[in-house]
Amino acid sequence: MTTQFIGKENFTIHTHTVSESCPSNIALIKYWGKYDNQIPANPSISYTLNHCKTNTTMEFLADEPFSVQTFLSGNEEVKFAEKIEKYFKNIEQYLPWILKGKYIIRTENTFPHSSGIASSASGFGAIAKCLMALDETFTGKNSEEESLRKASFLARLGSGSACRSLYNGLIVWGETEEVQGSSDLFAVPYPETEIHEVFKNFNDWVLLIHEGQKSVSSTVGHGLMNTNPYAERRFQEARENFIPMKEILKSGDMERFIKLVEHEALTLHAMMMMSDPAFILMKTGTLEVINKIWDFRRETGLPLFFTLDAGANVHLLFPSDASEEQIKTFIEAELLQHTQKNGVVKDVMKF
Ligand code: DP6
Repeated sequence: MTTQFIGKENFTIHTHTVSESCPSNIALIKYWGKYDNQIPANPSISYTLNHCKTNTTMEFLADEPFSVQTFLSGNEEVKFAEKIEKYFKNIEQYLPWILKGKYIIRTENTFPHSSGIASSASGFGAIAKCLMALDETFTGKNSEEESLRKASFLARLGSGSACRSLYNGLIVWGETEEVQGSSDLFAVPYPETEIHEVFKNFNDWVLLIHEGQKSVSSTVGHGLMNTNPYAERRFQEARENFIPMKEILKSGDMERFIKLVEHEALTLHAMMMMSDPAFILMKTGTLEVINKIWDFRRETGLPLFFTLDAGANVHLLFPSDASEEQIKTFIEAELLQHTQKNGVVKDVMKF
């Protein structure tokens, strides 16, 4: 955090610069469907990634007229600036100083654009952390716990899944009786003592099956749940899935974990196929990879499985243990060929 006082004619501009970094996350029980004010229709749980991050520098020129300028990897992004302006206006009630200045926001992702890795999660996570850093210079220091919680609350108002990116490990957003302290308003870490060791070191390799523009934005996708006749049942199922998930995380039952996580991913896609209008977000390569994973598991019994976001790319999940070398060899030899340009992003989840 740096604060400079720049003399400008006969008055002074206070420039504050903060830099923050925030990782992306991948959901195991999915958030898909929401109510007003970014209230999720069901609770979700995700792993926070380690390498896939957004690094953001926010320059705040206090007392200038309110405006926002954004740069992504050095290139000015006018559309993104408009989105951020709207977001800042929306959260003024929680940060009363926020519209009293000009912003120059520079942001970079450590992972490729349109890779199926949620850049809105890491992006809004990093912006919320920058805002909290500025807030502390104006209103005084909070405890780390309070500051993270408020950052998670603010990130949620930018993009729902972003609120889970503020913490490492397994993170829950959305109220559920199964997780003490869980809330629809912010995310909370899943208690580490309730997680078996096998789930504490995991790989997430993202196969870039299709690198183009997504065929449906999250906003449209969530909106389609409002008229989907299966939506209520799906929300109920996600809520119910917290019961086995809790048992599995405690016991380390990999077989049930795999079944549950893959079911969640396929359900998300099934919901899109049953929406009006319908969307098929998988590509041929997605299906080929899924079938090869299932064959590989049948033949070797090794714990390689998948999850999907609202797109064609496949997140390959496997524990960091004695089996990982054999799994990595299989991925390189058999699955990479289904990507567009041998594209794979290799990440890990650590506690
Ligand atoms: C499929 O968080 O991107 O990744 O709240 O509209 O910004 P908005 O949606 P977003 O939705 C993410 C949906 C998902 C599943 C998940 O991350 O839980």
